[in-house]
Amino acid sequence: MQEPFSVALLGCGTVGAGVAQLLMQQVDRLGNRAGRALQLKHVLVRDPNKVRDVSIPHNIVTTDLNLILRDSSVDVVVELVGGTTWARDAVIQSLKAGKHVVTANKALLAQHGTEIFRQAHESNRIVAFEASVAGGIPIISALTQGLAANEIQSIQGILNGTSNYILTAMTEHGHDYQTALKEAQQLGFAESDPTLDVDGSDAAHKLAILARLAFRVDAASDQMFLSGIQELTPLDIRLAAELGYVFKLIAEARRINQRLSLQVSPTLVRRGTPLADIGGANNAVQIRGDAVGDVFLSGAGAGMMPTASAVVSDIIDLAVGRAQHTFDSMRMWDTDSTLSIA
Ligand code: NAP
Ligand code: HSE
Repeated sequence: MQEPFSVALLGCGTVGAGVAQLLMQQVDRLGNRAGRALQLKHVLVRDPNKVRDVSIPHNIVTTDLNLILRDSSVDVVVELVGGTTWARDAVIQSLKAGKHVVTANKALLAQHGTEIFRQAHESNRIVAFEASVAGGIPIISALTQGLAANEIQSIQGILNGTSNYILTAMTEHGHDYQTALKEAQQLGFAESDPTLDVDGSDAAHKLAILARLAFRVDAASDQMFLSGIQELTPLDIRLAAELGYVFKLIAEARRINQRLSLQVSPTLVRRGTPLADIGGANNAVQIRGDAVGDVFLSGAGAGMMPTASAVVSDIIDLAVGRAQHTFDSMRMWDTDSTLSIA
């Protein structure tokens, strides 16, 4: 019998609590899939006395990152804290300490991905990030594995659950913007600074990650046309409905000859088409590949258990050894494209 695969969680908020719940309640299922037990060894939080959605044994709760870094039995550090300062340091230190890293933090990858992946290669460790884009939808493994034979022509989708929740609530239920945003926050969909959700930045971070994988370009948010949903009024939404359209925050990367156009913007989508039907916090991604044609993936784009599903799939891939193969063979974060960003 192999040694257990030991997991340290950084953060036990919406997503961290979901991951802890899966690891503690699905021991047999996950152990069978991973071929060895997945052991939750440490849970790092800011406030150890906070009442949480999941009951964590007191003896594994800590506020001390060094305790985790020094524990040689820890195989993977799962970063679910958010932000780009503390999280960056924690991820870099974890890799230097010889731990693999799983993260759901798209802002971190969009801002510090190059440094983080360089450190991962130097430390001969893996960074896995399935949960960073489109919540529970396995879009990262689709691009890096299932669609690896294709030259990707375009990616178009709804990549932010909070803004889609707000637009759906305003369109279908007549809620006002502030009420809908508050609901999305209460349901755990929104970022700690929800401006990132509604101004299009979060979708832009995710589009930058997808563009990196699909087109091997280094795309920063400031190279995209970026516009959010904050300025949309109930009148805009009503007029669109009268004409048979709905507004969706659409993120799009499109190859046009040697150029790649990238944009995130509220877009009129005709009712009855697949993207128009994506409601609430759901996300959808339509990918066009030269061999496969169009592929459409949809599902929960945010929230506790869907995001935990993606995080735990990364942990299983690491425990099995699959993630290491994909990481090495795909050189995931490399940019060797001759495309210019328009
Ligand atoms: P959250 O609910 O705000 O939880 C953050 C956790 O990090 C809390 O447990 C908090 O501790 C801990 N924390 C914050 N600052 C810390 C610090 N300086 N030191 C130690 N612990 C600290 O966040 P979340 O919604 O789970 O999101 C986590 C990450 O997943 C973010 O990068 C987010 O973008 C990403 N993500 C979220 C979703 C979603 O649906 N929520 C989906 C996909 C990806 P306390 O609990 O003690 O305060
Ligand atoms: N705040 C993000 C969203 C969480 O609403 O899509 C999932 O990445």
